[in-house]
Amino acid sequence: MIANYRRPLLCAFLTLAIAASVLASCAQAGPFSVYLTYPGDPSTTITVNFQTSKQDRETEVYIDTVPRRGHKEAYARRVEGASTSIPGLPVPRTIHYATLDGLTADTTYFFIAGNDSAGFSREQSFRTIPAGDGPLRFVAGGDMDATRLTRKLLKVAARQNPQFAIVGGDIAYANGDVKNYRKWDRWFANWDRYMRTSEGHRVPIVAAIGNHETNKAESEEYAERAPFYHAYFGRQADATYFDRTFGSLLALVVLDSGHIATHDGEQKTWLAEALARHVDVPYRFAVYHVPLYPSHRDFDGELSASGRTHWGPLFDEHRLTTAFENHDHTLKRTKLIKNNEVSPEGTLYLGDGSWGVKPREVDKDRRWYEEFAAGKGHVWIVDVSAQGVTYRALGVRGKVLDSAETPAPSRP
Ligand SMILES: [Fe+2]
Repeated sequence: MIANYRRPLLCAFLTLAIAASVLASCAQAGPFSVYLTYPGDPSTTITVNFQTSKQDRETEVYIDTVPRRGHKEAYARRVEGASTSIPGLPVPRTIHYATLDGLTADTTYFFIAGNDSAGFSREQSFRTIPAGDGPLRFVAGGDMDATRLTRKLLKVAARQNPQFAIVGGDIAYANGDVKNYRKWDRWFANWDRYMRTSEGHRVPIVAAIGNHETNKAESEEYAERAPFYHAYFGRQADATYFDRTFGSLLALVVLDSGHIATHDGEQKTWLAEALARHVDVPYRFAVYHVPLYPSHRDFDGELSASGRTHWGPLFDEHRLTTAFENHDHTLKRTKLIKNNEVSPEGTLYLGDGSWGVKPREVDKDRRWYEEFAAGKGHVWIVDVSAQGVTYRALGVRGKVLDSAETPAPSRP
């Protein structure tokens, strides 16, 4: 028997619990966490990804170059996709993806995604990357999570109307633990809500892996060591390192700084080949998580030292223009560095991953390789054109905290 004075409390608790469960089921109704990645050439291909809280398998995307307000029969093209799941996830969940190819460069597309069982998303849009030497603007950063600072910086980034975003690892801080699936849900909810251009276009994601994407499972299997990253971003490539070219101006290598793949071995062989392949592209960028030139952590940290040993000479040999580094939760710009020394022929290293997590302190005195360092949350906005590259670190109020330029390469 329940004492009388406890009944109102119990009723209130039950009402709240029912309301919460109704809200939760409403929140999961229909496709959610819709996001875009690049499976190949960003001028002609894109992958539409979304999730459903069912164990359904069908994946459909309807697409057109004009808005069709969600009337699927009206769209010019229907693309069937595929789906995957994350073993051990404590809730029903299917991750759907459909790769769209044969797109026209520099063109706006409208789409809906879903299936007949779960329903369809509302209409969304994106724009393909210009082919040739048309100007590019992207945002780069890492170490995000889903904090107040993350949301503020997402708004700052979106206001710049980037064509795509590079996220350099430590994305949702779920540590590859399936129990932490809500951290990813919150991360995607923020991306969905804030990361849209002024015209409402979705901003596609290029994602590198960081230490907080992985768990400590005794396994060599990428899908087991980084279950969320593998399921959510595994369509970018089979491995945790890959490259993309954006028009004729920019080549980007996306690297794994020792989380699933080691700096040496197959990744190093691949990196040498990729950088050689892009030698004629005017600007050659890299993104990865652990910095070769850290601004908070120890210069001799194991992964930083390994990066300098195995990747540094390749960056030097192939004249990497700029490396986007993360992991240290600071704002950093180095001098140009070659052969581990300051050199006008060298590579610019920008970082250090402070897109939402609490910024960390930097040394009172600058390190030998630093031109600028501060413990400030920021995102890098990068403009690439045939005339050169400009980099601006924007802080939480949208103010420029630091900036730099790379001149156009001189023609032989
Ligand atoms: Fe990290």
